[in-house]
Parts: sequence; C-alpha cells; structure tokens
Amino acid sequence: MIADRRAFILDNTRLQPPPHAPELLLHLADEVTPIWRMTEEELGELGLPPPFWAFAWAGGQALARYLLDHAWEVKGKRVLDFATGSGLVAIAAMKAGAGCALANDIDPFCAAAVELNARANGVEAGFAGEDLLERDPPQVDVITAGDICYERPMTERVMAWLEAARGRGTRVLIGDPGRTYFPRAGLVRLAEYRVPTTRELEDQEVKRTGVWTFAD
Ligand SMILES: C[S@@+](CC[C@H](N)C(=O)[O-])C[C@H]1O[C@@H](n2cnc3c(N)ncnc32)[C@H](O)[C@@H]1O
Repeated sequence: MIADRRAFILDNTRLQPPPHAPELLLHLADEVTPIWRMTEEELGELGLPPPFWAFAWAGGQALARYLLDHAWEVKGKRVLDFATGSGLVAIAAMKAGAGCALANDIDPFCAAAVELNARANGVEAGFAGEDLLERDPPQVDVITAGDICYERPMTERVMAWLEAARGRGTRVLIGDPGRTYFPRAGLVRLAEYRVPTTRELEDQEVKRTGVWTFAD
C-alpha cells in the first residue's frame, strides 16, 4: 500500500502551471508511464486505471479557462466538480469566486491531489470520493465535468445524470476535446479553445476543446 499518498504525489510530480490556465499551479507528472508503473508497483496491483489526477486533461483545462474568464458563472455559487482528477476545475472555480467547491472523484489518490493542489493555489476545496452517479445529483448551483466522454458506458451514465441535474435547475458545464463518445446532440457550445496538451496523452499537441451546456 502507498501509506502516504501525499508523499507519493510530491515525489512523482512537479508543481507547474497547466498551459491553458497558467494562473494555476498543479502537481503534475511529465510522463505517464513511470508514474503509472510506480502506482501499480506500490499498490501491488496490475491493470489499474491511469493516474488521471497527475495530468490536466484538455477538457478540464478548457473549463478552468472558461471559469477564470467568466467568473459570473460561479461567483458566490455552490459548485460540484464531477470527475475532478487533479482538482483543477474546482480550484479554478474557487479562484473565480465560487462560494464553495466540492471536488468528486472515485480514484482514491484524488483526495490527496486535490488537497495539495488547492493548497498550492491558496484556496480550499472539499472532496467527496463516492460514486455520485449512483444517486440523484446533489443540490448545487453548478456542476462542472471535464473530459468525461472517453468510455461509452461511463459517458452514457454521466450524461443521463447531468441531464437529471439540469432538470433540477443546476447549471451544467462540460469540457470536451471531441472525445469519441461525446454526444453533441442537445448541447450548445459556450466557448472553444485550442488547448496545449502533451503527446504523452494525446494524438495532437493542441486539442480544439469546447465548453458546453445543455440547450434550452
Ligand atoms: C480524463 S480524467 C479528467 C480529470 C479532470 N476533470 C481533468 O479534466 O483534468 C477522468 C476522471 O474521471 C474519473 N471518474 C471515472 N469514473 C468516475 C465516477 N463514476 N465518478 C467520479 N469520477 C469518475 C477518473 O477517476 C478520472 O479522474
């Protein structure tokens, strides 16, 4: 077991600005394979999902940029950042003046990653580690979801859940770089960015990435 996840993150990442939201600082890995292998070795498990929390994904970077530039979307509001990874969107929301932000992810490393990254940016963000898709969406003002359409079953579950949230009056903001399962139908694009990523993760160095919400 990795007894101290904080120490593991600090040892295997570098504090650096995500390229499309350089106002922020995050503990990010430069290469995917070494940290992935080390996580598996330390946990004594093979076939683990990649350490998503160690990278700022294109969808999250676009959402972070959007919130920093459109602070009215979150100012004074309760924000839930679903599938938070490193926590960058929750942190951007707090930087933009959100009343509070709850970061959610089922990867247990994310609790420590969000805590360290929030601290590095001088903000506070809560963390919830349960699978929120198993129940009704919580009563918040805004739900953000960055880069969540990379697998079909998850995309279908998340989109249905986000639509239910929208039905309850929650503003839903989705960041997506044109992933295979992203359903454009019923969504409108609020912004589009050219987001620098890394060839470690993506097939292109710059990903055209949209911020979307449900159409009225
Ligand atoms: C591609 S990463 C995106 C992370 C972050 N939003 C960003 O854009 O940098 C996808 C994240 O979804 C998380 N995830 C997968 N299934 C989930 C679920 N049911 N509930 C919450 N998070 C989930 C993964 O653990 C991973 O951190």
